[in-house]
Amino acid sequence: PVSAEVNTDIVTLTRFLTEEQAKHAEATGDFTLLCHALQFSFKSIAYYIRRATLINLTGLAGSSNTTGDDQKKLDVIGNDVFINAMRSSGKVRVLVSEEEEEAIIFSEHPNARYAVACDPIDGSSNLDAGVSVGTIFGIYKLAVGARGTDKDLLLPGTELVAAGFTMYGASAQLVLTMKGGAVNGFTLDNALGEFILTHPNLRIPKKRAIYSVNEGNSLYWEDPVKEYFNSLKYPTEGGKPYSARYIGSMVADAYRTLLYGGIFAYPSDKKSPKGKLRILYECAPMAMVMENAGGQAVTGNMSRMLEAVPEHIHDRSGIFMGSYGEVQKVIDIFEAHT
Ligand code: AHG
Ligand code: MN
Ligand code: MN
Ligand code: MN
Repeated sequence: PVSAEVNTDIVTLTRFLTEEQAKHAEATGDFTLLCHALQFSFKSIAYYIRRATLINLTGLAGSSNTTGDDQKKLDVIGNDVFINAMRSSGKVRVLVSEEEEEAIIFSEHPNARYAVACDPIDGSSNLDAGVSVGTIFGIYKLAVGARGTDKDLLLPGTELVAAGFTMYGASAQLVLTMKGGAVNGFTLDNALGEFILTHPNLRIPKKRAIYSVNEGNSLYWEDPVKEYFNSLKYPTEGGKPYSARYIGSMVADAYRTLLYGGIFAYPSDKKSPKGKLRILYECAPMAMVMENAGGQAVTGNMSRMLEAVPEHIHDRSGIFMGSYGEVQKVIDIFEAHT
């Protein structure tokens, strides 16, 4: 029968959020509304990225941000889209963005209960080549009596109430997880304009022989890092070497790692002793996704990534994340060095 071939009962993100909210008697609907604003920002950013070459949105904006990156035009547009979505949701009090030196305080919403950290466009050096990029977000609930400052976000990732990312690839893929919950993946159906639940309860494979790292930095790596990657490339006793995959957009590299398994790393090194990726809006949200999918994420010191507390909103960390067993190998090699 035709009805067996067409799914007339699809789970949209809107439906998913409504059903999640119904499971929590104490829920006020604020988080749901915040997520509606988030998904609108993802759709808008996806739209601008797809049209960038046609509407003069390729290339540099001519400015740089606090962490020293040259801003692309789409970094600036993505940031504006995200800020406006968060402000107009009415549910966000404090917003930290990679592209803003200071935290943005929405004082027009003094009773808003959430703080959000975002990387509006991750992997922006890939934009003009049409290679996958993404948006990363982490959501914190403000403590009772919080004054609404950047200090409200100087928390370990264990305090995140929700986190995730959208990857703008062949299709837009939204990955969302909530505290103590599963990881769910949604695909944007451009015709419907809806994110559809296509990857319920994502679990990262326990192991897989794929590594993802910018090997061009290996000159600067510390010994345990060198030893670890060499052990993958030159296995003992006739083992098969790992495959290398590195896109240069953490969101895309992490999404592949989530689906296929393996390891993604951006180690700290002699040139960047604090690493490159930023804790609040790159490392912590991704670590929460990895852990909730059954994987691991650790810092350059092999401590749990989700327990790292930034002292400043743009602080960085080294990171290793992915399949449980693959990350465990790094931890074991580091341990043998101490
Ligand atoms: P962003 O584009 O948000 O500034 O992030 C860039 C990050 C991340 O996406 C990626 O994993 C990494 O930088 C790539 O860095 P290298 O070019 O040093 O490999
Ligand atoms: Mn940047
Ligand atoms: Mn980034
Ligand atoms: Mn970015």
